[in-house]
Amino acid sequence: MIEHEGIRLDISGAGEYLPASELEALEPRAMAALAELHDGTGPGADFLGWLDLPSSITADDLGNVQAEADRIAAQAEVLAVVGIGGSYLGARAVLAALGLDGRAGSGRPEVVFAGTGLCGATLQQTLDRLGDRDVHVCVISKSGTTLEPAVAFRILRAGLAARYGGGAASRITAVTDASRGALRRLAEAEGYATFVIPDDVGGRFSVLTPVGLVPLAAAGVDVAALVGGARSMAELCRSDDLRVNPALLYATVRYGLYTKGFTTEILSSFHGGMQLMQEWWKQLFGESEGKQGRGIFPASTVFTTDLHSLGQYIQDGRRVLQETFLAVRETGTGLAVPGGGGEGPDPDGLDYLAGRSLDEINWKAYEGTRTAHLAGGVPCLGLELDRVDARTLGALIYMFELAVGIGGRLLGVNPFDQPGVETYKKEMFRLLGKP
Ligand code: PA5
Repeated sequence: MIEHEGIRLDISGAGEYLPASELEALEPRAMAALAELHDGTGPGADFLGWLDLPSSITADDLGNVQAEADRIAAQAEVLAVVGIGGSYLGARAVLAALGLDGRAGSGRPEVVFAGTGLCGATLQQTLDRLGDRDVHVCVISKSGTTLEPAVAFRILRAGLAARYGGGAASRITAVTDASRGALRRLAEAEGYATFVIPDDVGGRFSVLTPVGLVPLAAAGVDVAALVGGARSMAELCRSDDLRVNPALLYATVRYGLYTKGFTTEILSSFHGGMQLMQEWWKQLFGESEGKQGRGIFPASTVFTTDLHSLGQYIQDGRRVLQETFLAVRETGTGLAVPGGGGEGPDPDGLDYLAGRSLDEINWKAYEGTRTAHLAGGVPCLGLELDRVDARTLGALIYMFELAVGIGGRLLGVNPFDQPGVETYKKEMFRLLGKP
C-alpha cells in the first residue's frame, strides 16, 4: 500500500497471481525503465517534456493562462473547445470530475467540445447548444492539420465571422505548435491569441500545458492546485523504490499480470464524474502501449451501473481481465437514506440503511465488488481517492503518465508515438480525394 496526496494504491488483490518474489524479480527492469526516462534515453526520448512539466511551469506561465482565461470568461457565456484525442480529453476529464462542465450561475462560461469526431449530428447539437449566446472558441491542435478539429473550426469560424464581423478574431484562442502547421499560419495571419504546445510533449501527455490549462482555467478550475498536485506526485516518483513510487509499482504490477495472460485491464470507478477521466486513461494507455502486437487493452466501467451489464462477464467470463478500481471515499454531497416515512414497518425493506450516507453505501459496494471479482479470478488493484479535487487529479494524472512511460519500456515499445493512427487517415484521405 502506498499513500500520497489522498490517493492510496493497494496491490494486495494481485498477490495471488503475482507473488512478491515475482514482483521483486521484475523490479530491476522497472527501475531501469524509470532511470531511462529520467536520463532522457530510450525510444521516444524526444518526447519526455511532460516528465518535468509540473516543476517547470512558472508563476508567469500560470499568470498568462489565467489572464487569457479571465478574458474569455469576461467575453463569453460559452466556450467551445475544438480538438481531438490528447487535445481535448484531459480538459474534458478534469472538468467532468470536478463537476464544472457547464454549471449555470458559476460566473464562468459553459464549456462545450467540438471537433471530437466527424459526425454532423453531434456537431449540429453542439452548435444548437451555443445558440445565440456569446461565444469564444479555443482551438487546439499540436500538428495544426488534424481533419476533425480543422473541419469543426472552419464551421465555427464562419459562424463567428457572420456574427461578430471584424471582432471575430478576438474571440479565438489557438493552442498549437510554435512554428509549424496550418493552424499556426492561420493564427498569425488573423491575429488570434496563441499558446504554444511544447515540441517535446505529445498530445496525450499535454493536459498540464496550455492544451488543458487554458480551457480549465476559463471554466474556473484552480489550475495552480492541479499543477501543485502533479508536482508533489512527480517529486515522490523520482524514487526508484517500488515501495515508495506508486507509478513504478502500478506499472510493474499491471505488466507482471499481463505476462501471466491478464491482457485486458479494466479501470472500474464507482463515481459517475470519473467516467471521462477513465476515457482519458484509456487513450493514454491504449495509444501508448498498443503497438507491435503488444500491450494491455484498456477498458473501463462505471459501477454500480455496469455491474448490471458487464458485471456478469467480469465475474464469470474469459479470465484475461485484471481490474483497477478507482474509488472515491467522499463526494461531499451529504446525501443519505432518509428514515421511513411513517408508512408502516419498513415498507421498502430499507430501514437497515436509514441515516447512512450514499458515500458509505457506495464504498461498501466497492469493497463487496472487489471481494467478488477476486473470488471470480480477477486480479484487482485499488486506487482509492479520499476526494476529487484539482490537487488530487493533478497527482493522479502525473502518476498515470509516468506509469505508462514505464509500462511502454517494460513492453518494449515506444510509448510516445502513435504510428497506427495514420493508417485510417491514409484510407480516409484517399477516399476523400485529398490532394
Ligand atoms: O495523443 C496524441 O498525440 C493524439 O491523440 C493527438 O492528441 C490527436 O491525434 C490530436 O492531434 P493534434 O493535436 O495534432 O490535432
